[in-house]
Amino acid sequence: MELGNFTFSMIKPTAFHNKHAGEIITMIYEQGFHIIAMKMTRLSYKEAQLFYKVHADRPFYTDLCKFMSSGPIIALILTKSNAVEDYRKLIGSTDPSLAEDGTIRNVFGLNIQQNAVHGSDSDENALREAQFFFSELEIYKNA
Ligand code: CMP
Repeated sequence: MELGNFTFSMIKPTAFHNKHAGEIITMIYEQGFHIIAMKMTRLSYKEAQLFYKVHADRPFYTDLCKFMSSGPIIALILTKSNAVEDYRKLIGSTDPSLAEDGTIRNVFGLNIQQNAVHGSDSDENALREAQFFFSELEIYKNA
């Protein structure tokens, strides 16, 4: 797991609830990503606040944290060359109504908050977010 070659993703509560996790993971595999860590869990409100702390000053922060702690999520570490950028292409724009046809958010997103998946926006955040969810023992190193 080398900076630049991995990214972090979460399948958000609504996408999980609507049973879209399998299709989302298939789309991830089809674009050549490897999954080196994966878990289903549920964030507390405080954990969601911590995860999204860079957005603490935004008007949508409280609602986002309520939503992200409302049900199970699936956390993933994905590897591929150019992982952060390529994954952002695969998921599409934050707002599903603006996301390109065939992207994960275009296909499964309901609105800007319930936009099916989260994807890291930089290599540094990919590392912080991966370490937020996974210990060394939970990451498969030989992929
Ligand atoms: P995500 O990739 O999880 O990272 C931060 C999240 O904040 C983002 O996806 C959206 O779900 C949410 N978000 C960003 N901008 C807005 C907005 N203008 N209104 C509501 N939610 C937003």
